[in-house]
Amino acid sequence: MQDFLANLLMYYNQIAMAVRGGIELYNIHPWLAALVLVVLALVVFGSLFLWLVRCRVASTKFFVLDHRSGWLWWWPWGRNADQNPLGDVVLPAGKIQQVRDVVEARTSREFGGRLERLGATLESRERGLIIDGVPGTGKTLLVNAVAKDLRAAIVFASGGDLITKYQGSGPESVKELFRVAKDHQPCIIFVDEIDGLPTRGSEYANGGHDEQRQTLLQFFVQMDKIGSERIVVVGATNAYGSMDGALRRSGRLGERVTLPLPDFGLRVRLLQVHTAAVPLDADVDFRRIAAATRGKSGADLRRLVSSAVVRAARRDAAAVGMADFVASLGLSSPPAAAAEIVHPAAW
Ligand SMILES: Nc1ncnc2c1ncn2[C@@H]1O[C@H](COP(=O)(O)OP(=O)(O)OP(=O)(O)O)[C@@H](O)[C@H]1O
Ligand SMILES: [Mg+2]
Repeated sequence: MQDFLANLLMYYNQIAMAVRGGIELYNIHPWLAALVLVVLALVVFGSLFLWLVRCRVASTKFFVLDHRSGWLWWWPWGRNADQNPLGDVVLPAGKIQQVRDVVEARTSREFGGRLERLGATLESRERGLIIDGVPGTGKTLLVNAVAKDLRAAIVFASGGDLITKYQGSGPESVKELFRVAKDHQPCIIFVDEIDGLPTRGSEYANGGHDEQRQTLLQFFVQMDKIGSERIVVVGATNAYGSMDGALRRSGRLGERVTLPLPDFGLRVRLLQVHTAAVPLDADVDFRRIAAATRGKSGADLRRLVSSAVVRAARRDAAAVGMADFVASLGLSSPPAAAAEIVHPAAW
């Protein structure tokens, strides 16, 4: 301890001497030197304080992924290396554009300006959309990629998050969700499993679910309050029909984009995308695999690829072979040549 104090004193003396030396060397008035030191200290502690305050403001139960460019974007090394985030999303033509259009109309200044010149005010644009489709068709993936592409932040919530059994906390959660989005403009509010929000069905009539009713109403209120904010709400569901009609009406989540299961051509593309980093044997024929995986989703195909990779690793092979895919499919022999005949335009 004594050593430590003695060392500290020594360093302090050295610094003081250096400062004094500097003052003498550069002929600076000691008061000026003191002023500079005080200002420096203020700047350092001030930025630390601001940083802490920001951290506190940012702390919320909702997960935020910030793809916004920030000032570093102008710096060549600060730019996102992933130049085309939508490149790995395999969907029928038009589906990606449909989602991108609604989101861009609200979040992009440039595109918004173009719309404005054509007479579409920000208030008049769709405030959100719903993406529906069976599990594993790429809903979450698509929203993420669009956010990245448009350099918008994305706040994740799920219908279930917003519904709580505690009195008053549901509407509070909804308010917080929109507040967080406001702090991160341009921002996508992504409500996964949005069918988890209650409907104004029987519960309304018997009045037993007042808390849930208040939550839904608060959601409407907050959505209708979106005016000039660059916020868009994207809901994902696989039960479109069971959602409240008022939620689906135009002006709120009016647009609906349905993602289908991939057809033959898209399955081939999906296999290519998911094996982009996988060394493959020459005998691997994606057309045969695609023919044998009718009705499978993008997520199924990704799992198929990783299970084939695991098998190849077990064999300690240098590349993944057709046999690995065949075994992962649970087949005893390679699937027949592409049974579904496609015309070349399909892929
Ligand atoms: N269209 C697609 N293009 C590329 N990859 C896909 C596609 N669909 C699914 N995948 C793969 O499957 C994974 C899971 O997909 P995702 O989580 O987006 O499905 P989801 O539709 O949101 O499902 P859920 O309804 O269960 O939430 C993705 O991370 C991706 O690797
Ligand atoms: Mg999902």
